[in-house]
Amino acid sequence: MTTDIKPAIPIRTITEKHPYSICFVCLGNICRSPTAEGVMQHLVTKAGLQSYFHIDSAGTASYHIGELPDSKSREVAGQHNVILRSRARQLRSDDLSEFDLILAMDHENYSDILALDRKNLFSDKVALLRSFDPYPNHMAVPDPYYGGLDGFEKVYEIIRRSCSELLEVLETHIEFES
Ligand code: 4NP
Repeated sequence: MTTDIKPAIPIRTITEKHPYSICFVCLGNICRSPTAEGVMQHLVTKAGLQSYFHIDSAGTASYHIGELPDSKSREVAGQHNVILRSRARQLRSDDLSEFDLILAMDHENYSDILALDRKNLFSDKVALLRSFDPYPNHMAVPDPYYGGLDGFEKVYEIIRRSCSELLEVLETHIEFES
């Protein structure tokens, strides 16, 4: 198992016409990655940077295409004033060329993303979200799907911490131009 995946931050100047794009990826795109999408959108909006970012999420599997996020994910996020509105979709190989940064929730998602990159052109833009977590533990955001609300709360906190740090790193390294 890989635990030493370091954050890959592709750096460029970003403008409102060419925003920095981030895709969060988990298995089903109904629990972890839509939460990360909602939290990151909330954070960039709070920072007044919403027109400089395009935030999205996707799943490596197709089981839940078109569905709203899991009701427990929506409940926990809602308690933090984060509304999850996305609909599940499956990650496509074109996402690897189109996004600036692709962040996997766990090691299996990470390998499944790289499996779509047959010519190994985009691995520098793929990383684990928890490589930004100040308390990364084993680097995986645990899958809460089969558990209770407490697991979803734990996942929310991991994601909130990791996304806050991610935004700080991005704000430090990226040049914003109007
Ligand atoms: P997610 O959680 O990958 O965080 O969206 C899961 C959602 C659905 C399933 C597994 C994990 N499933 O097996 O259907």
